[in-house]
Amino acid sequence: METSRPQAGKTILNTMDATRLMRQENDRYAMESGRSRRAFVLTFGCQQNEADSEKIAGMAQAMGYGIADAPEQADLIVVNTCAVREHAEKRALSTVGQYKHLKAQNPELVIAMCGCMVSQEHRAEEIKRRYPYVNFIFGTSMLQSFPCLLWEWTSTHRRVFRAGAEETAVAEGLPIRRENGYRAWVSIMYGCNNFCSYCIVPYVRGRERSREPEPILEEIRSLVAAGYRDITLLGQNVNSYGKGTKAGWDFADLLAEADKIQGDYVLRFMTSHPKDAGKKLIDVMAASTHIAHQFHLPLQSGSDAVLKKMNRRYTTETYTQTLDYLREKMPDVTVTSDIIVGFPGESEEDFEATLKMIDRARFDMIFSFIYSPRKGTPAAEMENQVPADVTHTRFDRLLARQNVIGLEKNTELIGKTLRVLCDGESKNDSLTISGRTEGNKLVFWQGDTADRGKFVRVKITGAEPFALQGEPAED
Ligand code: SAH
Ligand code: SF4
Ligand code: F3S
Repeated sequence: METSRPQAGKTILNTMDATRLMRQENDRYAMESGRSRRAFVLTFGCQQNEADSEKIAGMAQAMGYGIADAPEQADLIVVNTCAVREHAEKRALSTVGQYKHLKAQNPELVIAMCGCMVSQEHRAEEIKRRYPYVNFIFGTSMLQSFPCLLWEWTSTHRRVFRAGAEETAVAEGLPIRRENGYRAWVSIMYGCNNFCSYCIVPYVRGRERSREPEPILEEIRSLVAAGYRDITLLGQNVNSYGKGTKAGWDFADLLAEADKIQGDYVLRFMTSHPKDAGKKLIDVMAASTHIAHQFHLPLQSGSDAVLKKMNRRYTTETYTQTLDYLREKMPDVTVTSDIIVGFPGESEEDFEATLKMIDRARFDMIFSFIYSPRKGTPAAEMENQVPADVTHTRFDRLLARQNVIGLEKNTELIGKTLRVLCDGESKNDSLTISGRTEGNKLVFWQGDTADRGKFVRVKITGAEPFALQGEPAED
C-alpha cells in the first residue's frame, strides 16, 4: 500500500519515540486548553479484535489521552473493523459515515480505522477515495505502529495508509487497558494458516505466529495476582500453538503449565480446530484444576462433501470421535459450535446431514451464520451459490432444531448447584443479577450487585434455550 508521503511503507519512528512525542503534544494541548484530549475506540468482530482494541486504548492512554465513553466526546476515534462477513463490513462503513458530521462540528477530530477490513487493499482504496475525513488507517500487522501513524498525521496533516497484513514479529509489552476488571483476554498467537475456502481471516491476519510461552505465563500470573477470575487464551487455531517458537511447546504443554499457577480463577481458550484437537489436549483439560470444562469446536457443516469443499480437513466421523472423547473424559463439558448455512453447492441432502449431526452432537449452543462470499477467497468463485431464500429457510430450520436441543441440555442442569462468576446487574426483567457458569452459560438470579466479579454458588431452578435461571445456593 502506498502512502501519501514520500517515505512510502516506512515507519519513521519507533513506537516509544512516537508515544513520547504524542504525549508532549497532548500535554501541551491540556496546558493551553485546560482539558485533556480523549480517545474513543469502537470494536467490530471477534474477541481477537476486542483484545487488540484494549491495546489500542492502552497505547492511547500512554500517549496522554483520556478515554471517552461516546464518539461525540472524543478528539480521536479509532474504529477497529472486521471482515468475516459482509454485514460486519457494512456496519463499520456506515458507522464511520456517521462520523462525518462530528468532523464537521470539530475539524480537529482525528479519525482512524484499523483491523481486518482495512487490511484488504480494495477496502483501503475505497476508504481513501470515499471517506476523505478518515485521517489514517493501519492493518492488523501494524498495531504497534499506531502511535507512529498518529504522530505522522499530527505532525504533517497528510493522510497515512498502511493496509497490509504482512507478518510482523509478535510485539510484546504493549500497554493494555482492559475493559473488565475480572474477565481478561490473552492473545497467545496471531494469524491463521488454514485457508478454509470461505474464510477471509488468513488474508487479513497473515500467517500464524505464536508468542513465546514465558511472556504468556507471566501475563496470566499478573492477571491472577490482580484478581482476574476468568482468563481466555485467544488464537484463530489454538491447537497449532507453538510452531516456530524457541520453546517448542505445543498448546497442551502451555495449558498444563498455566494450570499450575495458583489462585482462584478459570482458564478457557478459543478457537480449536477439529482437525488438530487431540487427545493430549483433552487429557490435560480433564486433569486440570483451573481449565473450564468448555469447548468451542466449530463443525461448520455436517456433510463430508461440503467439509471437503470448505478445506476443513476432517470428516464428520473424526469430528464425532473427538466429541465422544471429550465427553468420555469430561461428562460435564459444555460444547458449542459454529455452523455455516448455504455454502456454495450445499444441497438439501447436505443440509439434512448437518441437521443429523446437530442431533447427534447435541451442542449446548451453536453460532450459525449465513454464508457470505468474501472477495479473494476460493469459495467466492465457486459455482452453485445457494439462493438467499433457500439459505434463509435452512437457517430458520437449523435454529428451530437447535433451540429444542439447547433447551433440553439446559433443562438437564435444573436442580444442580453451579459455580457462577457474577457480572452484576442483569438485563432480565424479573431477575436482577446475571453471570456465567464455568461452561460459559448465562444465568439469571435474584442476588446482590456487590457480588460482581466474584464466584457465587447458584442452584439452577429453570431453563431456556439460551439461558438458565437460579437462586443463591444455601451451602
Ligand atoms: N478461527 C476460528 C473462527 C473464525 S471466524 C475457527 O476456525 O473456528 C468465526 C466463524 O465465522 C467461523 O467459525 C465460521 O463459522 C464463520 N465464518 C467465517 N467465514 C465466513 C463466511 N465467509 N460466511 C459466513 N460465516 C463465516
Ligand atoms: Fe478462518 Fe479456517 Fe482459519 Fe478459522 S481456521 S480463521 S475458519 S481459515
Ligand atoms: Fe473479524 Fe478479523 Fe476476527 S475478520 S472475526 S475481526 S479475525
